Amino acid sequence: MCGIVGYIGGREAVPILIEGLKNLEYRGYDSAGIAVADSDKVFMVKRSGKLKNLEAAINESGISGSLGIGHTRWATHGAPTEANAHPHFGKTREFFVVHNGIIENHQQLKESLKREKCRFNSETDTEVIVHLLEKFYTGDLKQAVCRTVKKLKGSFALGVISSRHPDLLLAARRDSPLIIGLGKGENYIASDVPAILSQTRSVIYLENDEIAVLGRDNAEVFTVNGDCCNRRPVTVKMDPDSASKGGYSHFMIKEINEQPEVMRRILSARIKNNRVRFEELKLNEKRLKNIDNIQIVACGTAYHAGLCGKYVLEKLLKIPVNVDTSSEFRYREQIIKKNKTLVITVSQSGETADTLAALRASQQKGALILSVVNVVGSSIARESDGVVYIYAGPEIAVASTKAYTAQLMTIYLLALYLGEVFGTVSERIRREMLRMLARTPLKMKEVLANNGRIKRVARDYVKRYNIRLAEQFKFLEDEVAQFKDSRKALEFAEQWARRSHLTYGRRFGDFPFLYLGRNVNFPSALEGALKLKEITYISAEGYAAGEMKHGPIALIDEFPLVICINPRSSLYDKMLSNIQEIKARRGTVLSIATKGDREIRKKAYSDYIIEIPPVNEFVSPLIVALPLQLLAYYIAAGIGCDIDQPRNLAKSVTVE
Ligand code: M6R
Repeated sequence: MCGIVGYIGGREAVPILIEGLKNLEYRGYDSAGIAVADSDKVFMVKRSGKLKNLEAAINESGISGSLGIGHTRWATHGAPTEANAHPHFGKTREFFVVHNGIIENHQQLKESLKREKCRFNSETDTEVIVHLLEKFYTGDLKQAVCRTVKKLKGSFALGVISSRHPDLLLAARRDSPLIIGLGKGENYIASDVPAILSQTRSVIYLENDEIAVLGRDNAEVFTVNGDCCNRRPVTVKMDPDSASKGGYSHFMIKEINEQPEVMRRILSARIKNNRVRFEELKLNEKRLKNIDNIQIVACGTAYHAGLCGKYVLEKLLKIPVNVDTSSEFRYREQIIKKNKTLVITVSQSGETADTLAALRASQQKGALILSVVNVVGSSIARESDGVVYIYAGPEIAVASTKAYTAQLMTIYLLALYLGEVFGTVSERIRREMLRMLARTPLKMKEVLANNGRIKRVARDYVKRYNIRLAEQFKFLEDEVAQFKDSRKALEFAEQWARRSHLTYGRRFGDFPFLYLGRNVNFPSALEGALKLKEITYISAEGYAAGEMKHGPIALIDEFPLVICINPRSSLYDKMLSNIQEIKARRGTVLSIATKGDREIRKKAYSDYIIEIPPVNEFVSPLIVALPLQLLAYYIAAGIGCDIDQPRNLAKSVTVE
């Protein structure tokens, strides 16, 4: 969470910082700021709200300079106000800091700094850093940063500039990502590669407790004790266009549409002569053969991919597979058998704090760690014993779509690979599975080409929603009438409508969504519900359909929309029974069904049907994901939500 960017060189820093922040906005977008040094003066502009507010303020201010730091915030300590926005500064206004992470001992530090007469300008945990810098500064900025960092507990990525040193940009990190970008006569810092991709591809991944000291022509890395580290740059392979909307109205819909191509990329990279190969996986088969149980840890969408992985891995490997959310797993008694437990972490960003902590806890207990990751060179990738990349390309929308199906596909392939190592998958099964998986891109294309039906269902839902909203307005007529000025009355009504949209799920829970699925499609139900919640703020729950009778059925009347994931499968009839139970209670059902399924077409079974092409049940989650993503997207678009940047969320959750 929070994005950091910094520049030192011969060019104007402001546009570079703004572009960098735009590319990092997915990490947080509740306030932003920059500080720019021009000879021995530092100018700062901060604004609450989206980056466009900051941009407008900068344009007005006309600030300039060739050294600067910028920040886009996702609030942890302190509301998203201008005072809490970064950069932060101390009493002398000579030192400026941007920070991503959480300083866990900030309260103690603040108390002791206050006793030394420091006055605080914000409610953030970050501000202690800049006061410590001032306190420790005796003419050497690097030394002050080293001494400050030693006092901090928790996680941080820092960018530091000072009017005393207009030729220096400093950075430091612990448990929050930070990279150094190297240019000719200029250098950069950033939380993530896309921020500086249009400037350079040569980067150094800063390690924990390292300090970087950047000048225009030099970049040096030190330990916190001041010892020099010899760090080699790597060349990043990433297409800058892949981080743009490319004509789509949102990143989310662009990324949904990219899925057939992503699948093709994974399949062609991984399948060689009807065998699965993971060239970058540096785990020898002897170590893998020792494994007798698997533990998957992940968060959010990645957790749902892991949950589906349990079904797949257990079926193909015949060993127990547990799945846990990282935030629970890390604080539990982890049952790890040294060299016998394979821990698979799944993460798009490779930076999720809880997953990283779960990885480290498992590693300490002697587990073998294999990670399924999208972002190359991310912390999780680097700290694992083995890594397989999912080749999804940059995923910008906060709601994960293509990374989810890429995680699923990679886990299917991983299961086949491990099945070959363990000798539990016959050649016939392997070939058959690979044939089924190879059809995924075409089947996905078919779903995307026939999205008209999904749009209509979404439109219908939004219409019902708006009617309901209009009905609520009737209660307001008297209140509106009391405004003599009709413009004021309209303003009031509009404000009310907006609030009602945003809090709709909570205040008027008449149209919640219930997603039901069984077996491999139980995780699909969880994922469908998560997608809808994230981008529409409508209350939605995912359940194993067999659990309905144990509680959720009490919710059923004509108002909730119950989405039943029921492509042809061995449990098809069981799902039909669940649907009938819902219909018997006047429930409204939307079925995700196989094209040509006549039975489900019977009115008694479904009010709406979205068809998917025929697909083997075992690999159906790969296809089922798409209509669920599209449904959430079209409803969010119909309601007018901020799809790519939903409230309160950030793409990369680097704090626990
Ligand atoms: O980067 P990660 O895959 O580790 O992120 C995990 C979750 O934060 C993420 O999947 C989140 O739930 C998404 N916003 C879901 O769309």
